[in-house]
Amino acid sequence: MAGNWKMYKTPSETRAFFEQFAPAVKGVTDRDIVICPPFVDITTAVEAATSTRIEIGGQNLYWETKDGAYTGEINGRMLRECGARWVIIGHSERRQYFHERDETVYKRTVAALESGLMPIVCVGEVLGDREGGRTEAVLGEQFANGIARLSLDQFRRIVIAYEPVWAIGTGRTATPEIAAEAHRFIRHQAREKFQNEQVRILYGGSVKPDNIQGLMAQQEIDGVLVGGASLDPASFASIVNF
Ligand code: PGA
Repeated sequence: MAGNWKMYKTPSETRAFFEQFAPAVKGVTDRDIVICPPFVDITTAVEAATSTRIEIGGQNLYWETKDGAYTGEINGRMLRECGARWVIIGHSERRQYFHERDETVYKRTVAALESGLMPIVCVGEVLGDREGGRTEAVLGEQFANGIARLSLDQFRRIVIAYEPVWAIGTGRTATPEIAAEAHRFIRHQAREKFQNEQVRILYGGSVKPDNIQGLMAQQEIDGVLVGGASLDPASFASIVNF
């Protein structure tokens, strides 16, 4: 159950969130809980999550694993030392606004693994693709150009997030059936490529406390990546505790 805070919250707001959120998920032992705040909040979040089962992740990283002259960038080594264990890679907002491509998704995934971070690799189609009947073609291409290039050992350490772009921040969730169908397709690709290896696939796109039950009832859906509804401690806690 992962939260993507996007460009929301300062360190003091992060502290306030954890004061409410940590006690609300205290009893949870059978699922991973991850929060991915902006870089500047990571240290605060890690401190606030000490002695809880909540883990912290970044929302991106640069693919150069060695430090260097890359103004504005952050690498996996830095994230790790701050206490992050996870990192989101290839989110559709990165693809849409920051020229992220399958090639850079691949490079960032490898860099994350080399730094000991667990990547949450995002794939998903835009509305025009879905309406034009190209969902599987697009997902297949994203899989082939990014995830399929990993070694089996690398593949074992990633989580995939299926996020239909038309459902992100729009209030328009994919129905549990639509999500499950896409998950099935991605899982099929993964099994073909990686010798039936298991992989966790999260659904993301307008996940809320009132639709989590239906989504998680689908066998194909292993967890969720939550944007807007992860910003409020009570609402994210109710999603985590579904
Ligand atoms: P949303 O965002 O839950 O606000 O739709 C999901 C995401 O972008 O990861």
